[in-house]
Amino acid sequence: MAEAVVQNDKKRLEGKVIIVTGGASGIGEATARLFANHNPSMIVIADIQDQKGHAVAATIGSQICSYIHCDVSDELQVKSMVDFTVKSYGRLDIMFSNAGITNGCHQGVIDIELSDYDNLMAINTRGMLACVKHAGKAMIDGGVKGSIVCTASTLASSAWDGYLDYIMSKHAVLGLMRAASQELGKYGIRVNCVSPSAVGTPMPCKAFGTDAEGIEKMFLNSTPLGGAGLVLKVNHVADAVLFLASDDSAFITGHNLGVNGGSLLG
Ligand SMILES: NC(=O)c1ccc[n+]([C@@H]2O[C@H](COP(=O)([O-])OP(=O)(O)OC[C@H]3O[C@@H](n4cnc5c(N)ncnc54)[C@H](O)[C@@H]3O)[C@@H](O)[C@H]2O)c1
Repeated sequence: MAEAVVQNDKKRLEGKVIIVTGGASGIGEATARLFANHNPSMIVIADIQDQKGHAVAATIGSQICSYIHCDVSDELQVKSMVDFTVKSYGRLDIMFSNAGITNGCHQGVIDIELSDYDNLMAINTRGMLACVKHAGKAMIDGGVKGSIVCTASTLASSAWDGYLDYIMSKHAVLGLMRAASQELGKYGIRVNCVSPSAVGTPMPCKAFGTDAEGIEKMFLNSTPLGGAGLVLKVNHVADAVLFLASDDSAFITGHNLGVNGGSLLG
């Protein structure tokens, strides 16, 4: 008879070395804070907002969290970030590749500026690829059966009128995750996506010109759970990332986990 496994809820990341990109704000920050409650060895927050990133790392605590400047659109910086992590903390177990941007919500196929498109794709898709590439390589070289989690979106498998370049970039993230999971599975490395619906972080607030409450009101009726007055918060996304990052999802790879209140949009 199989033995029941009692999960010590506070030790789901015991001894793990973790990178969180886009960890200075929003979903990345909330996830780094949740990770810190689960006994990791070290969390490296990587971002381009240095002041915020340092402040988040300091409040989590310098013994388990550090900050490094890394623009994910620059492959050399991504490589340096991963090399720094392995050299300083011995290994890389978990990469939460989460950094992303929008160019506002009115981007359409007729009027899109291709320079805006290039800039967004360099971060959301090329940057995501660089993070998966160098994390995967470090895990293979270190013999680590690691976990890579990428932040996609409901808009990775659905579309709206607007957000064109963002929608294209997040569709590509799903393709990256699926292909990388096939390639890296033989090393015991898992690759999954988390796909939130709208959540009131600075990114959509800026795009829609409102605050977190405004975003929650705007999207309340876009999900079945919204009918009960429930709205998506960053901690809901962080909980899903913790599941995919930890051994709780040990036989799950190539999966896109929607955190969307039952929305059929993706
Ligand atoms: N908020 C939403 O409604 C929502 C929904 C679905 C998916 N997402 C995705 O969640 C992820 C996190 O976004 P968020 O909502 O927390 O927004 P956010 O703006 O609060 O956080 C994004 C972070 O990424 C960082 N970043 C931006 N460009 C970077 C770069 N070139 N290199 C390194 N870091 C960079 C920013 O400085 C910021 O700290 C993004 O990938 C976003 O597309 C957000």
